[in-house]
Amino acid sequence: MSTKPADTTPGVSTTGRLAGRLVALGVTGSIAAYKAVELLRLLTAEGADVVVLLSPSATRFVGPLSFAALSRHPVEAELMELLPDGRIGHIVIADSADAVVVAPATAHFLGAMANGLAGDVVTAACLATSAPVVVAPAMDGDMWTHPATQTNVRRLRDDFGYAVVAPDSGPLASGQSGVGRLAELPSIVDAVVVAVDGRPVRQPDTTARPPLAEEPVREADLAGRHLVVTAGGTREPIDPVRFIGNRSSGKMGVAIAEAALDRGATVTLIAADVSVALPGDRARVIRVETTGELRGALLEALFGGSGAPVDARFDALIMAAAVADFTPSRPAALKLARADGLSLELEPTPDLLAEVARIAHGLDSSGAATRQATTPRPVLVGFAAETGSLARASDKLRQKGVDLLVANDVTEAGSGFGTDTNRVVILDADGGETALPLLSKRAVADRLLDRVAATLDARDSGVQTAAMQEPAR
Ligand code: CTP
Repeated sequence: MSTKPADTTPGVSTTGRLAGRLVALGVTGSIAAYKAVELLRLLTAEGADVVVLLSPSATRFVGPLSFAALSRHPVEAELMELLPDGRIGHIVIADSADAVVVAPATAHFLGAMANGLAGDVVTAACLATSAPVVVAPAMDGDMWTHPATQTNVRRLRDDFGYAVVAPDSGPLASGQSGVGRLAELPSIVDAVVVAVDGRPVRQPDTTARPPLAEEPVREADLAGRHLVVTAGGTREPIDPVRFIGNRSSGKMGVAIAEAALDRGATVTLIAADVSVALPGDRARVIRVETTGELRGALLEALFGGSGAPVDARFDALIMAAAVADFTPSRPAALKLARADGLSLELEPTPDLLAEVARIAHGLDSSGAATRQATTPRPVLVGFAAETGSLARASDKLRQKGVDLLVANDVTEAGSGFGTDTNRVVILDADGGETALPLLSKRAVADRLLDRVAATLDARDSGVQTAAMQEPAR
């Protein structure tokens, strides 16, 4: 049987050439430092988790805030500062990064590095790492052609094995023209991809990686909204003692419920088997055990029963529960004896999310629009826990008729069942795919709720998305 989703939700391992990789981006003090912000974005778009190191002079050109916000990691800029847990930041990065890329790299950086001088976090990380290093110099044309610079570059390339992405020619900051412009950013990304190609992920244990930044506190942007969230794994009885279950911890679904409460929503949490504390009085909590009970609780909470009321009782359903796909056809009324042996006949469970989507969209089981759709149109969110590839995720989104699908690869490090972190891709009905970096489950919850809140706001202001125009059948 397959078990599912949501709170198991991890990785984006199949999307992006750097998925699952930690890339350390070292920025030194060149006028091109501002381009490193875009480079960070491109590395992230390739699926990399990026942590930024700034030399003291780089901070004069571009502040740490943009890097911290985009990377979701605190920026490392002080050689002598320790992480909150007492570890040495640039050493943690040196030990866990799959690659270090220094872009832009100044003449000073090249000179210091060529001589093993580790006076700032960028040079110190390069000196301390055994990961491949990619260097993209940027400077004035005469500085680039100076024999000292050329000797340093040769040393980095030939003696240290660094990949050097040579600067381009063109207009320079001085107003002159020449060779010295930072190479085009996609070519730097390509060099990082080549550098890590075929190497194992260096630090699969994500707790040993640099810490994640805390998510910013959200506004009460879900006030007045009713969100129904399902969490945990359903259990299908074999007899009164035994059941078929799954590895879901419920952490993802509960994190979503808590984040929604903190953002002012009214929350109904339908919890199957969970191994974390529930939000208590703040939410309306309904406990269920089996898929059948989950179905009953869902239809009751969403539609007041199995009918299809025209007035929506909920604004969004977030289906994070790991619903058992198969249930014993004939559970035994009495405990089965071991001596009798056991051969189980299983039957598939109904697809609850697809059923909810059909009801909400006014469709019958054949997909024909025979009823009135629920208004205003609720936002439906599914999860898909996949193993090894997320290729089926977009089909699932269409087949289930949902607006958003949160997909992850449960085999990826830091994203498995019961973990506190998750790496997900959020797919939407317009064909968009957003790969998030490795984040705490609470941070994933907030990022997902950002999308739900935006979709609800768009709904209320009359903006049509593809999903709103064409309910899936
Ligand atoms: N889901 C559901 N009812 C089921 C099975 C799954 O509502 N019987 C929901 C899950 O809660 C999740 C989404 O559907 O939000 C996707 O679950 P997943 O198990 O990945 O998809 P399946 O439809 O079960 O497909 P498969 O087992 O073939 O991967």
